[in-house]
This record gives sequence, structure tokens and C-alpha cells, in this order.
Amino acid sequence: MKTTVDKIKSMKGKEKIAMLTAYDYFTSKMEDEVGMDIILVGDSLGMVVLGYEGTTEVTMQDMVRHIGAVSRGAKNPLIIGDMPIKSYDDNDSALKNAKLLLEAGADVVKIENKPEIAKFLVENKIDVMEHIGLTPQTATEFKVRGKDEETANELISQAKECEQAGCFSIVLEGMPRDLAKKITESISIPTMGIGAGPDCDGQVLVSNDMLGLYDKLSPKFVKKYADLGKDMKSAFENYVKEVKERKFPEDEHSFH
Ligand code: KIV
Repeated sequence: MKTTVDKIKSMKGKEKIAMLTAYDYFTSKMEDEVGMDIILVGDSLGMVVLGYEGTTEVTMQDMVRHIGAVSRGAKNPLIIGDMPIKSYDDNDSALKNAKLLLEAGADVVKIENKPEIAKFLVENKIDVMEHIGLTPQTATEFKVRGKDEETANELISQAKECEQAGCFSIVLEGMPRDLAKKITESISIPTMGIGAGPDCDGQVLVSNDMLGLYDKLSPKFVKKYADLGKDMKSAFENYVKEVKERKFPEDEHSFH
């Protein structure tokens, strides 16, 4: 059954919410098959699929293409389209671009810490997930936010503003677990943690990180559930060797 925004909101305090990124048909199909609640087509696409240094090179065209692929693979999870940087600088461009992501197959959109834009989108019947804490589109350094009282209070206020703007959920990235717990307990919408400890309402990871398919960064909060990069490398090595040594193809791979 298709997961809805109302279903996700109703899970707060009752059942943990599982969310992972996907960027292609095959991965999203498998995530659907195992019962993922939410699939995020994140702009982490830029780093883990397109080979850029960060997320800021990702364009609307990139997002539209990958959201299309993901939506063809996954029928049940709620699909979130991440709005790339500069696609939501003002209300009009945010609305126009959010509609393009929905047309491509997203159910809802995600933006980074712009509650006033979120409010406008919600007023225009577009469901929005917010993202606060370490926000990769604008961060100048990749470090934990909210360790001192002042920034912790700032993050608590931002979360409340996002809730008041009508967002259905907020990603809390890169913050002390106690702060994430406090935020989670102080708002009525679900929080999705990444590097924010176990007390958020749900968890999100970049699929390529947890599968061992991206080795440029290995943040402490990523648990590696597989080492597919190693398996791929060894399969490719065997293939090269067997082609060179004339061991592949064998008769069973040939037509007669
Ligand atoms: O782009 C992304 O994958 C994200 C997650 C890190 C939450 O925003």
C-alpha cells in the first residue's frame, strides 16, 4: 500500500520510520520490496552518483531524471524529491520547480532550512520535509552543529518554525543526540535523524554509504551494512582476468 504523508505523521511515537536514499530504478525497487517507508532522491546524487565534490552542482534536470527512475521502481514508499540549491530562492521559483519534481514522480519535496518558502509551498498544497542542522547545500564545513547553547537554541527555534510553517517532517543532520531528542520531543511532527542519534522518530542514510559504495568520506554516523564496493571490484577484476586469459565466454555462454 502506498505510504502517505498522513501515515508518516501518524507513526511519530509509535513506530520508527525507515528512510534511505535511492537514485535509480533497481535500488528503489529493492528498497520498496523490503518495506522502506520513505525513499529520498537526495541531492547527495551529486557526490555519490555524478562524481561532483558536493551537492551544489546538482541541477533540476538531474533531479527530474533520477526521480523518474526511482518512481518507476518504487510503488509503495513515500518518494521525496530533494530540491537542488538555487531552485527555491524565492516563492515563484520554488513553486514552479517543486511542481516539476512532483510531475517527475515525487510525492513531496525536501528543502534546506527555509521555513518561509516551506510555508508558501504548503499553502499551495505541496507537502514539504525540512532539513536543519548540518545543511550540505550551504555548509562551509562538515561538522556537528548545536554543540554550544546558542546554536542549540537556534536549532530548536528553527525546528519550531518549520513545524509552524506546516512541514510534515524535518531531517535533523549532524547534531548531538541529546539535542535531537529535545527537538523531537518538543515538536509534533516526525524528525528523521542522520548523525543525530537514536531518539529521532526515524533514521535516514545515504544508501551508497551504508552499502560501502562511496569511499571518499566515511562519517562516524554511517553504519556499513554491506561492502558492495569490494564485491564489485573483485567481480570486475575476475572479468578482466578471464577475458584476457580467454576463459570467458565458455561454451555455455555461446550460441550454436
Ligand atoms: O541529499 C541527501 O541525501 C540528504 C540526506 C543526507 C538527508 O539530504
